[in-house]
Amino acid sequence: MLTIKECLEQILTQTLVEISGVSDAKGLVIYASRPEFGDYQANGVMAVARQLRQNPRELATKVVSALKTDGLIERAEVAGPGFINLFLNTQMLATKAADCLAAPETLILPANRPQTIVVDYSSPNLAKEMHVGHLRGTIIGDSIVRILEALGHCVIRQNHVGDWGTQFGMLIAHMNSLSADEGQNENAVASNLSDLEGFYRAAKQRFDAEPAFADEARAYVVKLQQGDPECLAAWQRFIDESLRHCEEVYELLSVSLRRSDLRAESFYNNDLPEIVKELSNKELLTESDGAQCVFLEEFTGKDGSPLPVIIQKSDGGYLYASTDLAAIRYRSDKLGADRVLYVVDARQSLHFQQVFAVARAAGFVRQDCQLEHIAYGTMMGEDGKPFKTRSGDTVKLRELLDESVTRALNLVTEKNPQLADNEKQLISRTVGIAAVKYSDLSKNRTSDYIFDWSSMLSFEGNTAPYLLYAYARIQSVLRRLQEESVVPGRTIDLLVPEERTLAIKILQFAELVRQLGEDCYPNQLCLYLYELSGLFMKFYESCPIMKAGADVRASRLALAQLTAETLKKGLNLLGIEPLQRM
Ligand code: ARG
Repeated sequence: MLTIKECLEQILTQTLVEISGVSDAKGLVIYASRPEFGDYQANGVMAVARQLRQNPRELATKVVSALKTDGLIERAEVAGPGFINLFLNTQMLATKAADCLAAPETLILPANRPQTIVVDYSSPNLAKEMHVGHLRGTIIGDSIVRILEALGHCVIRQNHVGDWGTQFGMLIAHMNSLSADEGQNENAVASNLSDLEGFYRAAKQRFDAEPAFADEARAYVVKLQQGDPECLAAWQRFIDESLRHCEEVYELLSVSLRRSDLRAESFYNNDLPEIVKELSNKELLTESDGAQCVFLEEFTGKDGSPLPVIIQKSDGGYLYASTDLAAIRYRSDKLGADRVLYVVDARQSLHFQQVFAVARAAGFVRQDCQLEHIAYGTMMGEDGKPFKTRSGDTVKLRELLDESVTRALNLVTEKNPQLADNEKQLISRTVGIAAVKYSDLSKNRTSDYIFDWSSMLSFEGNTAPYLLYAYARIQSVLRRLQEESVVPGRTIDLLVPEERTLAIKILQFAELVRQLGEDCYPNQLCLYLYELSGLFMKFYESCPIMKAGADVRASRLALAQLTAETLKKGLNLLGIEPLQRM
């Protein structure tokens, strides 16, 4: 199925090819920049005219007169130096809108070519509790998987948690010494573990201050890698506790990751010697200071000297990159991925460039499997530095979310003191969590942004409260009219410009979602929903519903309902379930 924009692109491209004889000419259809320029505009004539040394306006005029409108285009006009403004047929829009209302699932059109897409996201290190630095990767990734699934792709989530490495020796050493100190008192260990962050801090303090403890910790790492059963049991206990913490956060955030999506670093342990062997067979390995490295021409340091990708240290230990190579092979060959998306901090971009290049060079990834780093920037505090507590500690994600819910509760209580307590709780939970998620998702993912409570909880602007309120308001209109037995009609008439503009925006939802499936920028979805709400408000102000005649009333109500469906679908793609009342 093609979207309106894709149909237009097809028609314009075909006509331009026929008229000009240039076989690779493109229509280049985009949204019109102003309503008087039509609904869409085609920019492809200019390049073709330049190529043929023809007058672009003349070529555009020929294209316009040859255009087969297919019931889609009402009229086309040449504009400026050779643009073509396209005005859509209003009846066609009305019919399409009514079709969407009858089958709301068609608001999104499945991808023309469904793929198997692996999405690596969230992926925290389990040595510590999730902190604010994990927010972005977790919710951007979750929104992307929702979008890809809605497009009909086969999505495989991979939570590539860090559960291996030297830190775990330190944690096991601390755990064992605690249970020895406390005379094997199980409860003491358990209660210590429940504060993972404190546990980590205590272990790290000892590691830095007590050489004997540090030696012990290092010995545990070796034992762990050798598969010592007691050591493994202690490690597993720690991992389980840490995962429980993560899952609590996922639950709070309505993030769709499950235990079964876990593919921890340790999962690849047994593959690592083989990775080294294959790299060596392909003559890609070089020894440097005792470590096994891959040097690729395209990666050089500031002084022009080649940069190594270290695969195995001189003591035999493996690194982050080694595991990622094994993971790529698994995703390409075992999971059969057509595309692998890594939703990871932008600061790891060199790591991914290198790992992708080594994987290609070594043939660890099928030629037709695409690897993409979906990078995101850092969440900053008001001081413009990475977000921290006043005392400079990292902020636990859990605490940030709890604070947001508390702030939302204060806000709701202030706005609506007469609400019942349980209603207040429900609303503030939704608003508080949605505010944090939305304020993050609405920023371009590649930039850093400054975390700010007051703007994210505002009822004005491109915020969660604004959108949730807009949705609840439509619901309340629908309810009120339903009480008077006025129901949405099956047909939609687009009589005035506000209705028509709203309907086009709704039909463009499918175009947007397809675009998001390609480039993975959820902020575009936020912007869309904000604009959609704005267009609805304009429609609602200028198009009376109750006072209109029966047919018009039913049509306007239908359009309101379709708007609500679209808003809800869009919010769901962001991982937000809207409220019926607010
Ligand atoms: N655990 C890593 C970190 O916290 C992120 C892992 C991302 N995924 C990957 N395949 N490297 O920085």
